[in-house]
Amino acid sequence: MCGIVGHIGPKNSIEVVLEGLKRLEYRGYDSAGVSFKKNGKIEVYKKAGKIENLKGILAKIETNANSCIGHTRWATHGEVNDTNSHPHVSENIAIVHNGIIENAHSLKIEMMKNGVKFKSQTDSEVYMALVNREIEQGNDLFSAITESFKKVEGNSAFVILNKNTNEIWALKRAAPLVCGTSKKTGEVLVSSDPYALAGMVDTIYFPGDNVVCKLDQNSENLITFFEMDGTVSQRFKSKPLEISLESTTKGTYPHFMLKEIYEQPGLIRSLAQHYVHGAGREALNASANIIPSHVHIAACGTASYAGLVIKEFFERINRIPVANELASEFRYREPILRKGEIGLFISQSGETADTLAAQELCQENGLKTLAIVNVEGSTLFRNCDANLLIKAGVEIGVASTKAFTQQALTGRLMSAALNGELKDERKIKIIFNKFSLLAERIDELLLRSEEIKAIAQKVFESKGFFFTGRGKYFPIALEGALKLKEIAYVHAEGYAAGELKHGPIALIDNEMVNIALVGPELLDKTISNVQEIKARKGKIVAFGPENNSDIESISDYYFALKFEGLDELSPLYINVANQLFAYWVARFKGTDIDKPRNLAKSVTVE
Ligand code: M6R
Repeated sequence: MCGIVGHIGPKNSIEVVLEGLKRLEYRGYDSAGVSFKKNGKIEVYKKAGKIENLKGILAKIETNANSCIGHTRWATHGEVNDTNSHPHVSENIAIVHNGIIENAHSLKIEMMKNGVKFKSQTDSEVYMALVNREIEQGNDLFSAITESFKKVEGNSAFVILNKNTNEIWALKRAAPLVCGTSKKTGEVLVSSDPYALAGMVDTIYFPGDNVVCKLDQNSENLITFFEMDGTVSQRFKSKPLEISLESTTKGTYPHFMLKEIYEQPGLIRSLAQHYVHGAGREALNASANIIPSHVHIAACGTASYAGLVIKEFFERINRIPVANELASEFRYREPILRKGEIGLFISQSGETADTLAAQELCQENGLKTLAIVNVEGSTLFRNCDANLLIKAGVEIGVASTKAFTQQALTGRLMSAALNGELKDERKIKIIFNKFSLLAERIDELLLRSEEIKAIAQKVFESKGFFFTGRGKYFPIALEGALKLKEIAYVHAEGYAAGELKHGPIALIDNEMVNIALVGPELLDKTISNVQEIKARKGKIVAFGPENNSDIESISDYYFALKFEGLDELSPLYINVANQLFAYWVARFKGTDIDKPRNLAKSVTVE
């Protein structure tokens, strides 16, 4: 977690870094800080809370610099306060850090015995102390940075500002880091995510692990990469930056989450176009060349629920057995992994630590690994044998919406490729039309957002929410409950409708709401489950098929849906109703929808 940015260039670096940090706030927003040079000294301004707090302080001083580093924090070591905020600064350097130093404690004890004093409780300050010690021992900055980096264990990225020279240094191990340059304007930046660089650079560079990046306005290329031994490194990948400036704003929407919900129909259409008729077809067929005897899916949170939807596709359509597991459990469970099986990893960011560890475990055991991922060039993308991009564009809302839909649908396309559906013109047409129909139905559903808002207004103060669904709607119940919990801060659970009577039904009373996800399949059985809740005075909000008086008549609030023709894609349709419901409940609750408390979008720690 945490977002880091560094800039050197003709523009006011402080403003550039603040803009970058604002875009990285999705990575954490416990505190923010910047450091730059003024009158030959390193200055630091940092503050607990969101970037707005920091901006408030900076507004009171004259701020102009041509180099600056900054940080937005998701706290791991040390509570949320000003002191633990980054940058950490000494006489010679300022540093910002993203990641975890696993041996920080022992290093700290050793240094404290030698008289080193620490101001903060962070692991990051330990790296700074190591660099300082190297400098005090007479080493130059390059060896101080690299020698200290060798001593810290765990996944980390650091950006370092030096008092005496006009350069910024950066290096990383298994943590995201990207550099960018604009030869036209002379700007050079480093960041945790290319998104922070949109509109400022035209070329981006992904350095390899242990490659040292030197950002230097006076060098011809603005940036040079070095190996740890000081030789020039070629271990980086460069490409044009393809993220538009427009994607960095909310446009006319009040929240990124809402904008992202509304983007879904367009994204579904372009996903189908890309994989069925466009350049993605080859990647899809290549992924389908490995016909697995068994698939291990590992992912976290919403991505894991997308995994459950994909499991349903693979098992029902392809008759391939799938184990879907939480990546955080998978790695410690000694899973049985055999040749001929594949590991499938689902992730929006491609940086989720647990998902990366699960991938590594599968690779070590000789399995082919495949990612369904949004961020091209992310660690997961780079580590897997093959990738299917979900083409969701940048997702800023911490609550994942469009990525979920695109992940599940990419899984459906993979199952189509495995099934030979993309080799037969008639079948190609069927699948393409089904995706188009889903997009159309979601378009219609989005036009009825006010109806869902009205339901949310009636129930948002309830004590708790049970999302129930059977069969292919069960993963959607889990996802619906997660969305509501994370953005509206209300207690919600997802249950397989038939399971409720095995315990949770004890919680039902007139203050509890059942969001019943009722598709055309297993209809009667689901209705019976709703009856059971109704009989215990639970409030019923049903998202169910149109023209079904049985379910409508027992519901307190009913939202009718048109399932015909969507078949296996219908869970993704009903899920959009859940997304809007969570959004409106959160609006009525007045929570911070795009940046819910305690969360970060990209969870790069275990
Ligand atoms: O970037 P990833 O898809 O790997 O992230 C996985 C989860 O952290 C993520 O889906 C999380 O559950 C979302 N906040 C849910 O909305």
